[in-house]
Amino acid sequence: MPQIFPEWTNKAPLYLVGGIVAVAAVAPVLIWYFFSPEFTDVGYQPEQPVPFSHQLHAGELELDCRYCHAQVEISAVASVPPTQVCMNCHQLVARDSEKLAVIRDSLSSGQPVEWVRVHNIPDYAVFDHGVHVRAGVGCSSCHGDIRSMEVVTQTEPLSMAWCLECHRAPDLHLREFDQITNTTWKPGNNQLAFAAQAKEERQIQPPQDCTSCHR
Ligand code: HEC
Ligand code: HEC
Ligand code: HEC
Ligand code: HEC
Ligand code: HEC
Repeated sequence: MPQIFPEWTNKAPLYLVGGIVAVAAVAPVLIWYFFSPEFTDVGYQPEQPVPFSHQLHAGELELDCRYCHAQVEISAVASVPPTQVCMNCHQLVARDSEKLAVIRDSLSSGQPVEWVRVHNIPDYAVFDHGVHVRAGVGCSSCHGDIRSMEVVTQTEPLSMAWCLECHRAPDLHLREFDQITNTTWKPGNNQLAFAAQAKEERQIQPPQDCTSCHR
């Protein structure tokens, strides 16, 4: 009898079953991996080495974001403040608190505190804080109401689709410059008129071409 199928096909059903079993075993792991908050990102809330509260410092004490994230208007990165900034107050305030032990160790050793990064986009995409802030896009458009957060939580997906959604139509996100750090800002009644004027005055042109974000 002539062979229609080559020899290995005899085992094909076996490979198939093996393949299905392998996929079935790996799928839950992949689903868990990609859909757990760290990878869908929204809701990601890592534990920090110091129980630092934005709700207390930026909310109740009303410290301006730029007191600690000093470079956010001029630099690509907002960056987290060095230990010395905390010590401006904690030299005196709650100076013996157990919760500040890591801060005191950092000051005496000179080693920076190892804060855990919350918001993160991959290295193959570029993002610049200064450009956005100087165009009049406020912190809360991308980070939510940080002033009310005991622990920082990611509120936006930071996906490519999310970036592009605003780049196509930034109108509802443009503010007066004195509102940049107001984390409960909402667009007012004449927002569209304001945005049209702001886009012209500030020469705002959010890019949508690939190479602007992937260099
Ligand atoms: C007293 C200093 C201080 C002030 C004021 C402050 N922050 Fe922070 N911020 C920190 C520190 C320290 C961290 C790192 C620890 C953490 O994530 O809680 C941080 C983290 C963050 C993060 C997360 C960074 C990451 O890893 O992704 C965002 C976003 C942020 N701050 C926004 C703001 C905004 C918006 C304001 C003003 C409403 C503000 N901060 C005011 C000290 C401050
Ligand atoms: C402008 C002053 C000021 C600065 C700057 C400041 N804090 Fe505070 N912090 C306070 C005050 C006031 C309290 C409340 C103290 C109390 O409840 O007795 C506090 C409370 C705390 C507490 C809770 C202490 C406890 O025992 O309950 C921690 C932790 C803390 N701050 C961390 C930090 C860190 C980390 C930084 C730097 C990123 C920082 N603070 C910067 C004023 C400041
Ligand atoms: C248009 C969106 C957008 C705006 C507006 C924005 N951020 Fe961010 N922020 C991001 C993204 C995206 C990241 C992650 C950047 C990365 O991974 O390179 C980030 C990261 C951070 C970080 C972590 C450290 C760093 O520099 O990467 C801090 C702190 C922070 N932002 C604070 C602020 C503050 C304070 C404001 C307002 C003055 C602000 N951001 C406005 C999108 C934004
Ligand atoms: C809420 C609105 C908003 C979101 C969200 C946003 N952008 Fe933008 N982006 C703007 C605006 C407005 C400009 C235009 C600035 C100008 O023309 O002066 C801009 C400009 C830019 C530019 C051109 C300037 C430069 O840095 O070269 C890049 C690149 C960019 N954005 C990347 C991103 C990325 C990456 C994300 C997502 C992680 C993002 N943006 C999310 C509003 C936004
Ligand atoms: C406004 C900024 C921006 C523009 C414009 C942009 N991208 Fe992206 N892109 C991103 C960001 C941010 C990510 C990372 C998303 C994430 O981590 O989920 C990304 C991710 C990707 C990825 C990885 C897969 C994925 O979807 O996460 C590919 C491929 C990609 N971009 C291709 C392109 C191409 C092709 C274009 C032009 C048609 C383009 N991008 C335009 C910001 C941009």
